[in-house]
Amino acid sequence: MNDPSFKQEANIREAAISGEEEVERTSSGDEPLLSVENLHTQFDTDQGIIRATDGVSFEVDKGEILGIVGESGCGKSVTSLSLMGLVDSPGYIADGSVMFDGVDLTELSREELRKYRGKRMSMIFQEPSTAMNPVYNIGWQVGEPLRIHEDIKQSASRSRAVDLMRQVGIPSPEDRVDDYPHQFSGGMLQRAVISMALACEPDLLIADEPTTALDVTIQAQILDIIKELNEELDMSVIIVTHNLGVVAETCDRVAVMYAGRIVEYGTVEEIFNDPRHPYTKGLIGAVPDPTRDGQDLSPIPGTVPNLADTPDGCNFVTRCPYATEECEQVDPRLREVDDEHHSACIFDDPNDHE
Ligand SMILES: Nc1ncnc2c1ncn2[C@@H]1O[C@H](COP(=O)(O)OP(=O)(O)OP(=O)(O)O)[C@@H](O)[C@H]1O
Ligand SMILES: [Mg+2]
Repeated sequence: MNDPSFKQEANIREAAISGEEEVERTSSGDEPLLSVENLHTQFDTDQGIIRATDGVSFEVDKGEILGIVGESGCGKSVTSLSLMGLVDSPGYIADGSVMFDGVDLTELSREELRKYRGKRMSMIFQEPSTAMNPVYNIGWQVGEPLRIHEDIKQSASRSRAVDLMRQVGIPSPEDRVDDYPHQFSGGMLQRAVISMALACEPDLLIADEPTTALDVTIQAQILDIIKELNEELDMSVIIVTHNLGVVAETCDRVAVMYAGRIVEYGTVEEIFNDPRHPYTKGLIGAVPDPTRDGQDLSPIPGTVPNLADTPDGCNFVTRCPYATEECEQVDPRLREVDDEHHSACIFDDPNDHE
């Protein structure tokens, strides 16, 4: 089967389940749970090499919620899939490391990776229906990671599935457990997908646009559930989104991605109160302030460059209101501009150079 969308769906299901044996926890406690270093994920295409992640580095501590934010096509999903070992041909990880609890996941075989996925790290996707198989009932699917990783029997997995479904706010789970995916609304299905991802109490949950397909009230409920579970289980979370409101409400730290790179990285307070990169400033400027009447949305003019052919200097140069001649030549790398606050701009704060 060569249909890429089929492959993607198969991968999505594999992300939610898979694996045989338990992987021992090895962390010392002081190290971040996840440490991504100089990640390069590429796609060899007819148009050339697409550098979907071009030297991405970040960390996630235990119990921390990291937001990855940026416009469409910036490499957010490819970053998530790279962490899970789910990038398929023509894509591959060309360089870099993904240290998870002391183990470099990029060095593991597909078989070894399965022991992590669904057990120690799991992923939920934008479109909940792709994560569920239409021919199996919800309870069977929610309990599947438990049967695989914890070797429990069907009857026990069904009752654990009921508990998990209750935990994510699905009403009357003892009745709904035997329903099929098509009998669930989008919001309920996303809750079921979350409960499946949480079945084995993972150390890391990666949520790629988990609420985009849902209406606003349901979005807020799903985010509340993720936050509650983060607190209750001390679970680390990566939330991928293009919605800055989601980031502001949910995250501890933020990585702003542009054209395959992280261009700003800091705490949620630093990113919102003291943004340093012109791209972040632009994104924040593009968000309407509900407390002010009649404020215009000011989207950033222009588009993300072709990732197979980025400009020589700064990737943002053609869209940047602060750009100078130097910016056309110098390719700025992420650097510390304040304590633990990083920006990939030649200026510490471009406002000081106006
Ligand atoms: N299978 C693939 N083959 C070729 N290029 C790909 C493939 N998957 C992703 N890309 C390219 O990688 C780049 C990053 O894509 P990615 O899906 O990570 O963006 P994103 O930030 O998640 O966007 P969105 O907000 O729309 O989900 C894009 O240029 C995209 O076209
Ligand atoms: Mg995406």
